[in-house]
Amino acid sequence: MIGKNIAEELNKQVNREFYSAYFYLSMSAYSDFLGLKGFASWFLMKNQEETQHAMRVYKYILDQGAQIALLPIKQPPSTFDSPLAMFEETLAHEQAVTQRFNELVDIAMAEKDHATHIFLQWFITEQIEEEATVSEIINKIKLVGGKGDGLFMIDNQLGQLASTQSVAAV
Ligand code: FEO
Repeated sequence: MIGKNIAEELNKQVNREFYSAYFYLSMSAYSDFLGLKGFASWFLMKNQEETQHAMRVYKYILDQGAQIALLPIKQPPSTFDSPLAMFEETLAHEQAVTQRFNELVDIAMAEKDHATHIFLQWFITEQIEEEATVSEIINKIKLVGGKGDGLFMIDNQLGQLASTQSVAAV
Protein backbone atom coordinates (compact mmCIF):
# COMPACT_ATOMS: atom_id res chain seq x y z
CA MET A 1 0.00 0.00 0.00
CA ILE A 2 1.27 3.46 -0.88
CA GLY A 3 0.25 6.79 0.63
CA LYS A 4 -2.31 9.14 -0.95
CA ASN A 5 0.30 11.75 -1.85
CA ILE A 6 2.59 9.24 -3.58
CA ALA A 7 -0.38 7.73 -5.43
CA GLU A 8 -1.33 11.21 -6.69
CA GLU A 9 2.22 11.96 -7.78
CA LEU A 10 2.48 8.62 -9.59
CA ASN A 11 -0.85 9.20 -11.32
CA LYS A 12 0.56 12.50 -12.59
CA GLN A 13 3.59 10.58 -13.84
CA VAL A 14 1.33 8.19 -15.78
CA ASN A 15 -0.08 11.27 -17.49
CA ARG A 16 3.39 12.66 -18.23
CA GLU A 17 4.48 9.38 -19.78
CA PHE A 18 1.37 9.33 -21.98
CA TYR A 19 2.16 12.94 -22.95
CA SER A 20 5.69 11.82 -23.88
CA ALA A 21 4.16 9.08 -26.05
CA TYR A 22 1.91 11.68 -27.71
CA PHE A 23 4.82 14.11 -28.16
CA TYR A 24 6.91 11.47 -29.96
CA LEU A 25 3.95 10.30 -32.03
CA SER A 26 3.60 13.88 -33.25
CA MET A 27 7.30 13.93 -34.16
CA SER A 28 6.88 10.61 -35.95
CA ALA A 29 3.99 12.04 -37.97
CA TYR A 30 5.95 15.20 -38.83
CA SER A 31 9.01 13.16 -39.87
CA ASP A 32 6.81 11.03 -42.12
CA PHE A 33 5.31 14.23 -43.60
CA LEU A 34 8.88 15.40 -44.40
CA GLY A 35 9.65 12.07 -46.09
CA LEU A 36 12.03 10.95 -43.34
CA LYS A 37 10.71 7.42 -42.86
CA GLY A 38 13.62 6.32 -40.64
CA PHE A 39 13.09 9.25 -38.27
CA ALA A 40 9.38 8.42 -38.29
CA SER A 41 10.09 4.80 -37.29
CA TRP A 42 12.48 5.88 -34.55
CA PHE A 43 9.96 8.30 -33.02
CA LEU A 44 7.26 5.65 -33.31
CA MET A 45 9.54 3.33 -31.32
CA LYS A 46 9.85 6.12 -28.70
CA ASN A 47 6.07 6.43 -28.68
CA GLN A 48 5.76 2.74 -27.84
CA GLU A 49 8.47 2.91 -25.17
CA GLU A 50 6.72 5.82 -23.46
CA THR A 51 3.40 3.99 -23.51
CA GLN A 52 5.18 1.07 -21.81
CA HIS A 53 6.58 3.48 -19.20
CA ALA A 54 3.09 4.81 -18.51
CA MET A 55 1.78 1.28 -18.11
CA ARG A 56 4.66 0.31 -15.82
CA VAL A 57 3.68 3.10 -13.40
CA TYR A 58 -0.03 2.32 -13.89
CA LYS A 59 0.53 -1.31 -12.92
CA TYR A 60 2.62 -0.32 -9.88
CA ILE A 61 -0.15 1.97 -8.60
CA LEU A 62 -2.69 -0.86 -8.89
CA ASP A 63 -0.30 -3.45 -7.41
CA GLN A 64 0.04 -1.14 -4.43
CA GLY A 65 -3.72 -1.06 -3.89
CA ALA A 66 -4.17 2.56 -4.97
CA GLN A 67 -6.57 3.99 -7.52
CA ILE A 68 -5.87 5.09 -11.06
CA ALA A 69 -7.08 8.58 -12.00
CA LEU A 70 -6.46 9.21 -15.70
CA LEU A 71 -5.86 12.88 -16.43
CA PRO A 72 -6.29 14.81 -19.70
CA ILE A 73 -3.34 14.55 -22.07
CA LYS A 74 -1.99 17.91 -23.24
CA GLN A 75 -1.82 18.60 -26.97
CA PRO A 76 1.74 18.30 -28.30
CA PRO A 77 3.16 20.61 -30.99
CA SER A 78 2.39 19.42 -34.52
CA THR A 79 5.21 21.11 -36.42
CA PHE A 80 8.91 21.43 -35.65
CA ASP A 81 11.59 23.76 -36.99
CA SER A 82 13.87 21.07 -38.43
CA PRO A 83 14.96 17.44 -37.94
CA LEU A 84 17.68 18.73 -35.60
CA ALA A 85 15.10 20.75 -33.63
CA MET A 86 13.03 17.61 -33.05
CA PHE A 87 15.97 15.88 -31.38
CA GLU A 88 16.91 19.00 -29.42
CA GLU A 89 13.33 19.19 -28.16
CA THR A 90 13.49 15.47 -27.37
CA LEU A 91 16.62 15.97 -25.27
CA ALA A 92 15.14 18.95 -23.41
CA HIS A 93 12.00 16.90 -22.77
CA GLU A 94 13.93 13.91 -21.47
CA GLN A 95 16.03 16.15 -19.21
CA ALA A 96 12.79 17.51 -17.72
CA VAL A 97 11.54 13.92 -17.24
CA THR A 98 14.80 13.02 -15.46
CA GLN A 99 14.35 16.01 -13.17
CA ARG A 100 10.81 14.87 -12.40
CA PHE A 101 11.98 11.36 -11.52
CA ASN A 102 14.59 12.84 -9.19
CA GLU A 103 11.81 14.82 -7.49
CA LEU A 104 9.67 11.69 -7.20
CA VAL A 105 12.58 9.90 -5.51
CA ASP A 106 12.89 12.86 -3.10
CA ILE A 107 9.19 12.55 -2.26
CA ALA A 108 9.42 8.76 -1.77
CA MET A 109 12.44 9.21 0.51
CA ALA A 110 10.75 11.96 2.52
CA GLU A 111 7.77 9.64 3.07
CA LYS A 112 10.05 6.68 3.88
CA ASP A 113 8.34 4.78 1.05
CA HIS A 114 11.06 2.23 0.30
CA ALA A 115 9.03 0.23 -2.24
CA THR A 116 8.38 3.29 -4.41
CA HIS A 117 11.98 4.39 -4.01
CA ILE A 118 13.14 1.01 -5.37
CA PHE A 119 10.48 1.04 -8.12
CA LEU A 120 11.74 4.43 -9.34
CA GLN A 121 15.35 3.24 -9.71
CA TRP A 122 14.53 1.55 -13.04
CA PHE A 123 13.42 4.90 -14.46
CA ILE A 124 16.46 6.76 -13.12
CA THR A 125 18.72 4.27 -14.94
CA GLU A 126 16.59 4.35 -18.09
CA GLN A 127 16.86 8.15 -18.26
CA ILE A 128 20.68 8.00 -18.40
CA GLU A 129 20.50 5.82 -21.52
CA GLU A 130 17.74 7.87 -23.13
CA GLU A 131 19.61 11.15 -22.76
CA ALA A 132 22.87 9.60 -24.03
CA THR A 133 21.19 8.10 -27.13
CA VAL A 134 19.50 11.36 -28.06
CA SER A 135 22.70 13.39 -27.50
CA GLU A 136 24.53 11.03 -29.85
CA ILE A 137 21.91 11.51 -32.59
CA ILE A 138 22.07 15.32 -32.14
CA ASN A 139 25.85 15.21 -32.58
CA LYS A 140 25.52 13.15 -35.76
CA ILE A 141 22.93 15.51 -37.27
CA LYS A 142 25.15 18.50 -36.44
CA LEU A 143 28.16 16.78 -38.03
CA VAL A 144 26.35 16.51 -41.36
CA GLY A 145 25.01 20.07 -41.12
CA GLY A 146 21.43 18.87 -40.63
CA LYS A 147 20.76 18.26 -44.33
CA GLY A 148 21.61 16.54 -47.61
CA ASP A 149 22.95 13.03 -48.09
CA GLY A 150 24.25 12.94 -44.51
CA LEU A 151 20.76 13.49 -43.14
CA PHE A 152 19.36 10.70 -45.33
CA MET A 153 22.14 8.41 -44.12
CA ILE A 154 21.12 9.11 -40.50
CA ASP A 155 17.47 8.60 -41.49
CA ASN A 156 18.44 5.19 -42.85
CA GLN A 157 20.39 4.29 -39.69
CA LEU A 158 17.51 5.29 -37.42
CA GLY A 159 15.10 3.27 -39.54
CA GLN A 160 17.33 0.20 -39.21
CA LEU A 161 17.64 0.73 -35.47
CA ALA A 162 13.87 0.93 -35.09
CA SER A 163 13.34 -2.14 -37.28
CA THR A 164 15.65 -4.24 -35.08
CA GLN A 165 13.19 -3.42 -32.33
CA SER A 166 10.27 -4.46 -34.58
CA VAL A 167 8.87 -1.01 -35.23
CA ALA A 168 8.28 0.39 -38.71
CA ALA A 169 6.55 3.58 -39.78
CA VAL A 170 2.92 3.03 -40.76
FE1 FEO B 1 9.51 7.77 -20.14
FE2 FEO B 1 11.58 8.93 -22.14
O1 FEO B 1 11.13 8.51 -20.41
